[in-house]
Amino acid sequence: MEELSGFYKLSAEERLKKIKKIANLTDDEAQIISDTGALKLELADRMVENVIGAIHLPLGIATNFVINGKEFLIPMALEEPSVIAAACKAAKQTLPQGFKADADSPVMIGQIQVVDIPDIGRAKKELEQKRSEIMKLAEKCLEPHAKWGIKPLGFNVRELSDMLLVEFDVNVSDAMGANMVNSTLEGVAPAIEEYTGGKVRLRILTNLAVKRKARATAVWKKEVVGEDVIAGVLDGYKLAKSDIYRCATHNKGIMNGIDAVMLATGNDWRAVEAGAHAFAAMNGYKPLTHYEKNKNGDLVGTIEMPLVSATVGGAVNTSPTAKITLKISGVKSSAELAMAAVCVGLANNFAALAALSTVGIQKGHMKLHAKNIAVLVGAKTPEEIDAVANELDKLNDFSSENAKKILDRLRVA
Ligand code: MEV
Repeated sequence: MEELSGFYKLSAEERLKKIKKIANLTDDEAQIISDTGALKLELADRMVENVIGAIHLPLGIATNFVINGKEFLIPMALEEPSVIAAACKAAKQTLPQGFKADADSPVMIGQIQVVDIPDIGRAKKELEQKRSEIMKLAEKCLEPHAKWGIKPLGFNVRELSDMLLVEFDVNVSDAMGANMVNSTLEGVAPAIEEYTGGKVRLRILTNLAVKRKARATAVWKKEVVGEDVIAGVLDGYKLAKSDIYRCATHNKGIMNGIDAVMLATGNDWRAVEAGAHAFAAMNGYKPLTHYEKNKNGDLVGTIEMPLVSATVGGAVNTSPTAKITLKISGVKSSAELAMAAVCVGLANNFAALAALSTVGIQKGHMKLHAKNIAVLVGAKTPEEIDAVANELDKLNDFSSENAKKILDRLRVA
């Protein structure tokens, strides 16, 4: 971590050089990461349909994350300024303890919908009697993946008005699991039709992956962040709990961080988004985080939510950058990636509440904006950029004319 102090002040090239060294990247890997056109047209064309190009997002590294005593460099890809800086700052304020986190076993739930059942009671009994045959079928579907610990764990039958839902639990190991779960459901569906006498319609996993949750907690000490920030975060949290309009934005701030980690590592961030909001809405839409004071008056923040992430399979395999970002992160399993992601989500939420309830977020945004203007008018070195940005901020005049004047003055001096 010491090696990364002042990381944000370096140029992008210098930062990559540091990360290359720490994460042991090869020259080729570093080259791919720095090549903002790394996704070549032929590969993009094999990933999705009707391809005409690729779009790019900045990739940054969140520093200061100590999770369960281990340091992580967390890759984040997004277009929004301040999110990475906010995560780094909030994480720094948890040190030296950092975050405690854990994640469930990677169990996904897949649903089979059965309709037009002549006798629901009899169908349920029949499914119970044929349980071991059905499980054997499901195991057969997943046999090719069994060596990685991927296997069906069991199924439940749920009655929903005039339908039955047959819901399978599948341990998908370090994969996201959608293809494996969906293929298994399609594989057993004919048998389900036979045993129920009904018609199978939908066969698909649920993104409300309640059996694959991740959670994290961190303490922000009053000596570090100040009592007013703690009171402000608690007031902000109170509002999110009582008002759905605020709660949507509260949770959006959490997902700013989590989605960015998912995107950077080639994961299905829409699946994580869907799971997060459905989970938040299970008992009336609520914040995904929770805050309270401990007996010392410090702030304890926690987060718990479904977090479906993969370190193998899908775009993790095809994307030229995902394998490298995972290598940089140092995560060893999908569970560890899920833990890292929820820690970032919690950090971003704390940072947002801390800023919103005190100085506001525009100050930080304008600072970054000021740096962009400084570059725009020709500031070159980090010192020059900082000096122009600071002056713009001080004068509260962010026009490019003003920036140009400041830069000219600086260069003469
Ligand atoms: C902006 O992308 C995210 C915030 O609005 C989150 C929040 O309000 O808590 C700052």
